[in-house]
Formats: sequence, C-alpha cells, structure tokens
Amino acid sequence: MYLTIDGVEKSFDHKEKGQVKVLDNIQLDVEKGQFVSIVGPSGCGKSTLLYLIAGLEKADQGEIRIAGKKVTGAGPDRVVVFQEDGLFPWLSVLDNVTYGLLLKGMPKTEAENKAKEMLKMVHLSNYTESFPHQLSGGMKQRVSIARALVMEPAILLMDEPFAALDEQTRMVLHNELLEIWKKTKVTIFFVTHNIREAVLLSEKIVVFETRPGKIKETYAVKTMKDGVMPNDSTFHLEKQILASLQGEIEKVLKEEMGDDYVFKTDTLHRDTSGDMGSHI
Ligand SMILES: Nc1ncnc2c1ncn2[C@@H]1O[C@H](COP(=O)(O)OP(=O)(O)O)[C@@H](O)[C@H]1O
Ligand SMILES: [Mg+2]
Repeated sequence: MYLTIDGVEKSFDHKEKGQVKVLDNIQLDVEKGQFVSIVGPSGCGKSTLLYLIAGLEKADQGEIRIAGKKVTGAGPDRVVVFQEDGLFPWLSVLDNVTYGLLLKGMPKTEAENKAKEMLKMVHLSNYTESFPHQLSGGMKQRVSIARALVMEPAILLMDEPFAALDEQTRMVLHNELLEIWKKTKVTIFFVTHNIREAVLLSEKIVVFETRPGKIKETYAVKTMKDGVMPNDSTFHLEKQILASLQGEIEKVLKEEMGDDYVFKTDTLHRDTSGDMGSHI
C-alpha cells in the first residue's frame, strides 16, 4: 500500500473540556495514484488528518507511512492546497509558481519553463504576468494547484479547495482536476464537506463520524473520469452517504444548539446541491 494511516490518534487541549480526542484509531490505506475523498461534518477531524499526513502535526498514537517510510515531518513529496489560495500578492502568477522551485535551488530558466508548463495545464498561459488580485477566485485556485504540482509531489493534499468558489467555477475546476489527475497520476487526498463533489471525483470515499473523528464507512466509486456523470447511481450514492451522516450532523447540531433542538430531516433531503451546509 502506498499511503498507510495506521492506528492514528490525536487529541488537542481544549480550554473548558481538557483533552479532547479529535481522531480515534484511524486505519486507512490509499493506493498509489488513487483519488480518495474524506467527507464528514465540520469539526470531525478531516483537516487534522490531512495535516498529519502533511507532517504539519504529529500523531499521539499510531503512524503514517508513505511507500513504507514513516512520516516524521513535512516533505516535498506532499503538498497542500487550501481553501484560500495563499498566493503571494506581491508576486506575479509565474513568480508564485516558480517560488518553491527557486527555493529548492533550481536555476531560474529551468524553473520558469517548468512553471509555464504547469500554468499551461491549468489553462493560465495568458496570465503568467498577472498578479493575484487581478484574477478570479477560480483562477487563483488554479494557480495554487499549478504551484503545488510544479513541485512534483507524490501526494496532493487538498483541504476543501473549491469550497469558496461558485457552483459553475467549481464544476470547471472539477473537470480540470480530473484531467490533471489523469495526466500526472498523482495520488490525491481530498477533504470536502460536499458529498456530491466527493462522489463525482473520487474512487474511494471515506465517511467520517464525529466526536471523536472516526471512519464510519468507506465506499468504492466510479469517477467522472470514467464517463458521463452525474447520473442516477451517483444521486443514489449521494443520498446514501447523506443518510449515513444524518446522525452525525444531528450530534453536531445538538451540541451547538442544545439537546432540545429538534432535527428536521426533510430539510436535508431537499438540498440537492450535495453540500451539507455550514453546520457540517
Ligand atoms: N491546533 C488545534 N488546537 C486545538 N484544537 C484543534 C486544533 N486543530 C483542530 N482542533 C479541533 O479539532 C477538531 C477537528 O478540527 P478539524 O480537523 O479542523 O475538523 P474539520 O476539518 O473536519 O472541520 C475541532 O474541534 C477543532 O476545534
Ligand atoms: Mg477542515
């Protein structure tokens, strides 16, 4: 197995509650080149797990291995794309993308050539000299993806990368990400609270339960890359995952609004966007 998450546990200190366990005995295998999504309510530990893989946080128990080697810190084999683009506003698109390569000591011309290749892949060849504030949200996220991929990571870690984008832009970026995935064969670890997005993009969906974060179910799926989607079977799967998360969403809502809160299940099923909303 390429990426192995083996019995990982993580707790954080909480002001009032003391030690709070955020991840409990996470066991997960990801194959090389696989596109795996993690879905679950907000606060269930998705980002924490992603940071552990990135080596930005350390597990209390268990370990993470990549190609058999234990993760002990951050490394160039793993790069993260966040919800906010995190681009340097004072650098041009091209300079943002070459930044990491130059830091690694790559000669400028070589770095620029590589960066231009990546920018071509995300369809931004005409914007290399633009600055981030001149770009739309979707374009900025494409720069972020180019900046990540230019480092030639083995694993691309994406933490709700399209959550801040409008629906149309998100659809375009879904297609672009799938094209990139096919071309580069990079392993993608994708965190989202949008069930539809997970269903359309990934080959494996890991559904989390919450308090503490734990794997509830795993689904193997066909992705949009295999053919025309969405269709009846993806809608069905979406509903199934939503139903499975219902109890988890209720748990979070009761915690936030008190035990007397009555959970209206029909409101969930009316939402056809696949987005579980801000509460989860
Ligand atoms: N560095 C931290 N210190 C303390 N608590 C944290 C820290 N990071 C995350 N948490 C807590 O851990 C829980 C899970 O957070 P997170 O992984 O961000 O969830 P998700 O990404 O699924 O929304 C939350 O309750 C959050 O407040
Ligand atoms: Mg998160």
